[in-house]
Amino acid sequence: MTASIDTRAGTVGGTGGGTPPGARTPIIEVRGLVKRFGDTVVHDGLDLEVYRDEVLSIVGGSGTGKTVLLRQIVGLERPTAGTIRLFGEDLASLDPARLQWMRNRWGMQFQRGALFSSLSVIDNIALPLRELRCLPDNLICEASLLKLELVGLSARDADKMPADLSGGMIKRVALARALALEPELVFLDEPTAGLDPMASDDYVALIRELRRELKLTVVMVTHDLDTLVALSDRVAVLADRKVLAALPIPQLVKIDHPFIREYFLGERGQRALSALSTQSAGANPASDVAAVARHAGES
Ligand SMILES: Nc1ncnc2c1ncn2[C@@H]1O[C@H](COP(=O)(O)OP(=O)(O)OP(=O)(O)O)[C@@H](O)[C@H]1O
Ligand SMILES: [Mg+2]
Repeated sequence: MTASIDTRAGTVGGTGGGTPPGARTPIIEVRGLVKRFGDTVVHDGLDLEVYRDEVLSIVGGSGTGKTVLLRQIVGLERPTAGTIRLFGEDLASLDPARLQWMRNRWGMQFQRGALFSSLSVIDNIALPLRELRCLPDNLICEASLLKLELVGLSARDADKMPADLSGGMIKRVALARALALEPELVFLDEPTAGLDPMASDDYVALIRELRRELKLTVVMVTHDLDTLVALSDRVAVLADRKVLAALPIPQLVKIDHPFIREYFLGERGQRALSALSTQSAGANPASDVAAVARHAGES
């Protein structure tokens, strides 16, 4: 295996593919990010770019700062140092009104759903629209019902309370709320954690469909290898307080780093990679990913 580490963007596959990233402008650009909580240094010189129309997944051990990174990118947490540009604008230079306007361009599905337990499903989804204060309530309800259907739930679920929902339904309602303002960019923090394999597969199919229909750019944090392999154009690995590399999986798994070895080339990783190699080997039996999966199986 080669041991080179690439912290720059790799070639992007999927719908975002074709054009080398160097030739495109990123819609998210993180440079030299430092984040400290007291003596705890979470990020130290972290760089990352995200390009329009791609699904970029972020992986890393528990506590490596994946959620904190998302929270800084969406302006919920302030970096200690470094810059974050979203859609070409430096977050730190935005006044509150401009930041609020910018926030309408993205949606976030939080790690634990973060639904308001005292609000019904429909009121949770309607919240971002109500906060805008520019639509009459009947239109807000109509738009919220459409979002509910978009994520595969029905009007029958609208008046349920969060406590009455299954884990899979909570994820879908949280996604519907993230999509309420018709964003071009969505952040998903552990969207399939805690779901059984079937619910997880359904969620992956839903994201694929939404991505195709709504032309979404997706930034996703996930521990789930199957979700990662099924959806990602590129995967950014968070380790040693930085983004170690952000590359398509076939290139990423060639990097010789303990986290990458353990995560991708362990038993579960091999299983997920062989699914990927089956897809790509159909097109090219000598493909990188087929070779890596074979190598992983042999070692
Ligand atoms: N508000 C805060 N104050 C102090 N420390 C914090 C705060 N928020 C996060 N941290 C710390 O930052 C580190 C990174 O946390 P974060 O939640 O980003 O991890 P993660 O990679 O998302 O983990 P997981 O995979 O378990 O969700 C942890 O050590 C956490 O305790
Ligand atoms: Mg987290």
